[in-house]
Amino acid sequence: MLSPATVLTCLVLVVMLPEVWSKRYTVGGNQGWTSNVNYTVWASNYTFYTEDWLFFVYDRNQMDVLEVNKTNYETCNAEHPLHNYTTGAGRDVVALNVTRNYYFISSKGFCYSGMKLAVHVVKTPSPPKPKPEKSVSSSRIYNLKSQIVFPTVLAIAAVWDSLLRI
Ligand SMILES: *[C@@H]1O[C@H](CO)[C@@H](O)[C@H](O)[C@H]1NC(C)=O
Ligand SMILES: *[C@@H]1O[C@H](CO)[C@@H](O)[C@H](O)[C@H]1NC(C)=O
Ligand SMILES: *[C@@H]1O[C@H](CO)[C@@H](O)[C@H](O)[C@H]1NC(C)=O
Ligand SMILES: *[C@@H]1O[C@H](CO)[C@@H](O)[C@H](O)[C@H]1NC(C)=O
Ligand SMILES: *[C@@H]1O[C@H](CO)[C@@H](O)[C@H](O)[C@H]1NC(C)=O
Repeated sequence: MLSPATVLTCLVLVVMLPEVWSKRYTVGGNQGWTSNVNYTVWASNYTFYTEDWLFFVYDRNQMDVLEVNKTNYETCNAEHPLHNYTTGAGRDVVALNVTRNYYFISSKGFCYSGMKLAVHVVKTPSPPKPKPEKSVSSSRIYNLKSQIVFPTVLAIAAVWDSLLRI
């Protein structure tokens, strides 16, 4: 079992890590960034906040990740991208750090077969007002902590504990 000191350390860590509230979305879910996926349908499933990330996973030999303006998104014009996120690994991250619309396409003709994504980024809700008790009231923060942070921290703590016992 975990020692009380370790558990306490974990709780402190979880409380002190506001940046982990942000979420990373793999574009297209299991299908990734590819042709013949309707990314309008995919994106409509989520609310994107500032501080969130998009993760594009795709065939690096064929496709790319370009940010374009609305006009060029609609017409699949890749000639004047606002930003080229393509690094060459087929694994690119985009920080959604501004509240605005973002438009992404793949060039090389794939945009015409649906490889285009528009996301609307809204302001991250401010953390709950400080209260006397240490309750976490925002469901978003609660979900992330319970789904991602807490299991991760507990896993680290378990390893840490076993190391201490050697
Ligand atoms: C929408 O999100 C739910 C829950 O994460 C997931 O099960 C579902 O496959 C998603 N639908 C689309 C179209 O991405
Ligand atoms: C997008 O950029 C093109 C030039 O590549 C320009 O002609 C067009 O007016 C721009 N559209 C918007 C909405 O800014
Ligand atoms: C985007 O950047 C990659 C890697 O630097 C490069 O190979 C590619 O030609 C660029 N694409 C465009 C459309 O500028
Ligand atoms: C947002 O991210 C882009 C690309 O990662 C970066 O160039 C830009 O400086 C960032 N803007 C802010 C306001 O942090
Ligand atoms: C994606 O689906 C929406 C809603 O069903 C539809 O309006 C839109 O035309 C589709 N987009 C593409 C590129 O097929």
